Amino acid sequence: MSAVVLSEREGRVAILTIHRPDKLNALSEQVRVELLAALAEIEGDDGVGVVVITGSGEKSFIAGADIAEFEGRSPFDQRWAMRSPRIFDVMASFPKPVIAMINGFCLGGGCELAMSCDLRVASEKARFGQPEINLGLIPGGGGTQRLPRLVGTGQALRLILTGDMIGAAEAKELGLVELVVPHDELRARTLELAQKIASKSPLTLKVAKEAVRASERLAIEEGILYERDLFCLCFSSEDKREGVEAFLQKRPAAWRGR
Ligand code: COA
Repeated sequence: MSAVVLSEREGRVAILTIHRPDKLNALSEQVRVELLAALAEIEGDDGVGVVVITGSGEKSFIAGADIAEFEGRSPFDQRWAMRSPRIFDVMASFPKPVIAMINGFCLGGGCELAMSCDLRVASEKARFGQPEINLGLIPGGGGTQRLPRLVGTGQALRLILTGDMIGAAEAKELGLVELVVPHDELRARTLELAQKIASKSPLTLKVAKEAVRASERLAIEEGILYERDLFCLCFSSEDKREGVEAFLQKRPAAWRGR
């Protein structure tokens, strides 16, 4: 069986490409297994500061779960297919920033995967939607929870109840993506952002992501206290000492990740 997740490196950025272009990069069991394996390898690689995830070909980021695999599945089979670790949760809690580079259709599980990333950069050709309603289903990769957090309950319900697709400009207006760029600049612009983030202290990036992600589950008072603790924890790092020293000495900081 040929690989359906391709992995490459550009400097401190790892780029993972879902490679099933003839199926619009639908998320199959094989994709799940290979993506988890690729992320496990990257997690232990100190040479990688940021992960970028994208889809193969010009047309699609990810067109959702592999619908062909749904046919004939019992609820038990489906529950097994949705066993932990879920790729969506792994990406949301991954200790390095993950950026979705959205090159086309971003539907269903694809949209849910993009929402699990920390940042989303979209081609102006990208199309977004949660079309599960048209299959007699609801989003099952976190869409009913992550979409309202990003765009608000009303807009999330509009997308989930109609199954309609929206374009990149509207997705940006709603807060579903952070950046929209010309299609032929997508890779360059995404890598520029990724390299900039990857040049920061990996230790501090990890703590910053953890603090912001905590806001998704904590009440504001608890979140503020948690932030204070993490902020003070940063005072124990070599990178905090280096960052402050470098600022005072008017030179660039040399991060160690410690
Ligand atoms: N799962 C499995 N296969 C998929 C797929 C999916 N989610 N999305 C697309 N494909 C396959 C098609 O079956 C087709 O395969 P084939 O050539 O062997 O017949 C191929 O990818 C190309 O798709 P096609 O539908 O011909 O392209 P299109 O440009 O006409 O339409 C879409 C593009 C995205 C509008 C359409 O493919 C679609 O609606 N896909 C399903 C989206 C969805 O419901 N996702 C949520 C799943 S829970």
